Amino acid sequence: MPILLSQGASNVKKITTAVFPVAGRGTRFLPATKAVPKEMLPIVDKPLVQYAVEEAVAAGATKIVFVTGRYKRAIEDHFDNDFELERELEQQGKDDLLELLRETVPPGVSFVSVRQPAPLGLGHAVLCAEGVVGDEPFFVHLPDDLIHGDVACLEQMRQVYETTGSSVIATEPVPREHTKRYGIVALDDVTSNPARITQIVEKPKPEEAPSTQAVVGRYILTPAIFDLLRTTGRGAGGEIQLTDAIADLLGKESVYSYSFKGTRYDCGNKLGFLRATVEIGMAQPDIGEDFREMLVGILDKK
Ligand code: G1P
Repeated sequence: MPILLSQGASNVKKITTAVFPVAGRGTRFLPATKAVPKEMLPIVDKPLVQYAVEEAVAAGATKIVFVTGRYKRAIEDHFDNDFELERELEQQGKDDLLELLRETVPPGVSFVSVRQPAPLGLGHAVLCAEGVVGDEPFFVHLPDDLIHGDVACLEQMRQVYETTGSSVIATEPVPREHTKRYGIVALDDVTSNPARITQIVEKPKPEEAPSTQAVVGRYILTPAIFDLLRTTGRGAGGEIQLTDAIADLLGKESVYSYSFKGTRYDCGNKLGFLRATVEIGMAQPDIGEDFREMLVGILDKK
């Protein structure tokens, strides 16, 4: 289906800022997350947050904003240059590792951290980034949702934004019994992709959900969201929900749902994390084949 053009689509502002809410403690992965941020847990050899940053940079982000809490220093350190280690690897002639290390800090990309003073919810976390984002459209990326595919999910969404000039939210269908884990959208035309969102509800009960199309942790938002977030009261779970502010935004601007190409792994739970490890492990150019054979061998023995 062709993308509907809305007003202003011809001169949309370029998106350069990506916001990563990373203040949560990740209690589902205790004890691993006692001293290590959950975003630093690796899938194969790369921390979740690095997959996240790489995706945003692939979509054109040059300013990365971490909305952090206590115990999250490791994330800031990960995206800082490590001159001592670089010198050591250089002296040892370990050029491959040196390159890998340098790639963690992409050239021309700046990193900013903002503290979320209290765990008041995703909407509150996004509002904490307002001062750094300014009056510009921006990406929001939740690193727990790892999306693997040929074209970065945020890049696919950026293309929709460039055509529509509107906020875009990534969505995918989920089983009805899972609606209470997600934001759920209703669309004006279920055969269209992207499609305009007519309703959005945070974590509805299966019998109350307006559809089974769930919000995945990727958003492009216009700055109009900030004023709405300031007045958003506590919603599901007693938290200030981004979904509720987006529901208010629907009354002011078009907001699109986009069903992306790629596989999403919910790395915020153990099964999703393990699935990502297995599938992304099998896709590794160096060890993928051996890993697959190893898995087959293990399963044969069972
Ligand atoms: C958040 C959002 C929810 C969305 C989900 C995607 O929920 O509030 O709307 O569907 O991310 O992962 P959380 O997983 O933080 O509870």
